[in-house]
Amino acid sequence: MKIPKLKQAIYVSKAITIFDRTRIEELVALAQKKNKDLKITGYLYYENGYFLQYIESYNGKVIDDLVNTLISDYRHSVINTFINETNRARRFSDWSMRYIQKSELIDLSLEGKIMDCMKLLAIKEQLGSHRSLEIWNAIDVIAKHKSLFQLK
Ligand SMILES: Cc1cc2nc3c(=O)[nH]c(=O)nc-3n(C[C@H](O)[C@H](O)[C@H](O)COP(=O)(O)O)c2cc1C
Repeated sequence: MKIPKLKQAIYVSKAITIFDRTRIEELVALAQKKNKDLKITGYLYYENGYFLQYIESYNGKVIDDLVNTLISDYRHSVINTFINETNRARRFSDWSMRYIQKSELIDLSLEGKIMDCMKLLAIKEQLGSHRSLEIWNAIDVIAKHKSLFQLK
């Protein structure tokens, strides 16, 4: 069976408004509802005023539309977006938008990987192929350990 094209986007943004845990959880609840309808999957990570979000869908247009919506959301300022389209299966098929907390990453010794990925994306310049490879590798590491995260 031919594997369809999966559109994937990852970005880092700087929060403009104040995000405490309640605000983030409200945002994630809404995102999960909307993403479920649109068959978008992925995760959201927040640390120290910065978001890292990964989204994926077999429908490229819904990813383009969400990226545009996110870029124009006044609550944060998107620094760098990285988009890819490859014939592959979803990485996070059962996460409509999983909010990943730092404590979970620490428990799984994955916080360094996410931090590296955030740092790479926070540099506001063209990402060379070497850098982009590191970013997708960091996403794959999270995907590989996905079963160790509790379903939320
Ligand atoms: C960091 C961040 C992540 C977000 N993630 C999503 C998401 O995964 N899916 C989504 O539909 N909206 C997400 N949003 C909200 C959208 O930017 C936008 O406010 C919302 O989709 C608009 O919904 P409405 O048209 O129903 O008001 C996110 C917003 C922020 C600030």
